[in-house]
Amino acid sequence: MAVRHPPTRIYAAVIISAILLIYVYSNFTPTKAKFHTLLDDINNSTLGFQEILVVGLPSRTDRRDGMSLQAALSNMNIKFVDGVHGSSIPDKAIPTTFERERMNDASLGSWRAHMNAIQEVVRRNLTSALILEDDTDWDVRLKQQLKDFSLSAQALTHPLLGSPNLYADPTYPTPSAGSPKVVPDLSYDQLPSTEPPKISPYGDNWDLLWIGHCGMHFPFEDNRLIPKGRVIHHADASVAQKQYLWTFNIPFTLKEQYPEHTRAVHHVQEGVCSLGYAVSQKGARKLLHEIGLRDVTDGFDILLRFFCEGARGRRRHECLTVQPALFHHHRAAGPLSASSDIGDHGAGFRDASSTDMVRWSVRLNADALLEGDTEIIDQYPDT
Ligand SMILES: *[C@@H]1O[C@H](CO)[C@@H](O)[C@H](O)[C@H]1NC(C)=O
Ligand SMILES: *[C@@H]1O[C@H](CO)[C@@H](O)[C@H](O)[C@H]1NC(C)=O
Ligand SMILES: *[C@@H]1O[C@H](CO)[C@@H](O)[C@H](O)[C@H]1NC(C)=O
Repeated sequence: MAVRHPPTRIYAAVIISAILLIYVYSNFTPTKAKFHTLLDDINNSTLGFQEILVVGLPSRTDRRDGMSLQAALSNMNIKFVDGVHGSSIPDKAIPTTFERERMNDASLGSWRAHMNAIQEVVRRNLTSALILEDDTDWDVRLKQQLKDFSLSAQALTHPLLGSPNLYADPTYPTPSAGSPKVVPDLSYDQLPSTEPPKISPYGDNWDLLWIGHCGMHFPFEDNRLIPKGRVIHHADASVAQKQYLWTFNIPFTLKEQYPEHTRAVHHVQEGVCSLGYAVSQKGARKLLHEIGLRDVTDGFDILLRFFCEGARGRRRHECLTVQPALFHHHRAAGPLSASSDIGDHGAGFRDASSTDMVRWSVRLNADALLEGDTEIIDQYPDT
């Protein structure tokens, strides 16, 4: 008896199908690399915001030169917004609901300059903008830092994947009567999966990202409005050792309670200095309403604090921050009086330029970056 073989055409059909399947699979299966995600935009020339605006007086050409160079060396695109002399603002243009003395010109000028930048964001309907003061500096690794920040911000403010009302931080969006006063830290190395953002790589729910400052607190335990979550990034090589870190906000919890080289992302509490912050379009509109058009009683950074925390008749808004900050003061060598056009920095002379707390300062590494050297100067080496 002869063994019956399947007809040759069946073999052929099987082989052809297999080849076809392999072909289809290799060509049309999406791989991660082929898709552009919002997160990739952090690497774009405006750091994933629609624009970068730099606020400062046009007369400070030295600072505009410095910012232009730093931006170029970081592949960033910036626009200048003219600062304002407080003395040029008429009383009528300063909203007030009660009789009181005019604030000092320095604070008024700073308020108005920032409001002009925010007004521009609203008027031009920008989806978001990063607003920097003109004497700031940042780390060569800024884009990596911002990517870390954005993933941390999403972990704090986006719902867990597949659970529209559940957040990794049980006190988000706002603590309830029975919520814990302290919640476990979220580790940057094991962030929960959250719903991906659709509008901004930094998440879709924020009003303000206060990422350049000279002091922040973690949300106070007894604050009933501010979510308590913290994302902790351990062993971040771009964070200087504790001996180099300082703040206006005492106690300095980050330094006292966490190991060396820790960076933390959390909600704003008592920020100081408006060196750098981002606004979303909805955030900019709310700022115009709450800080532009309400009583101008304090410096701009204090007004931002009221805005974020829901103080002095304002609502609470969604404000995130990072410690240590990503934008810091650059102090150029020269007469101390050049440090400010508004405050009095007195007589004296600074011999060497420096930037607070930034390890691989772009400004101080201009030589290396321009020459394409790989030898980067670390301002604050570990000891
Ligand atoms: C970011 O953009 C630069 C060019 O501007 C490119 O060389 C680099 O590979 C990009 N990095 C990432 C992670 O996409
Ligand atoms: C950078 O990315 C942001 C966020 O997606 C986008 O709004 C902006 O238009 C991009 N800018 C550039 C110059 O590509
Ligand atoms: C502002 O931009 C949004 C999209 O980002 C759009 O839906 C809206 O219509 C714009 N508003 C104005 C006044 O142009």
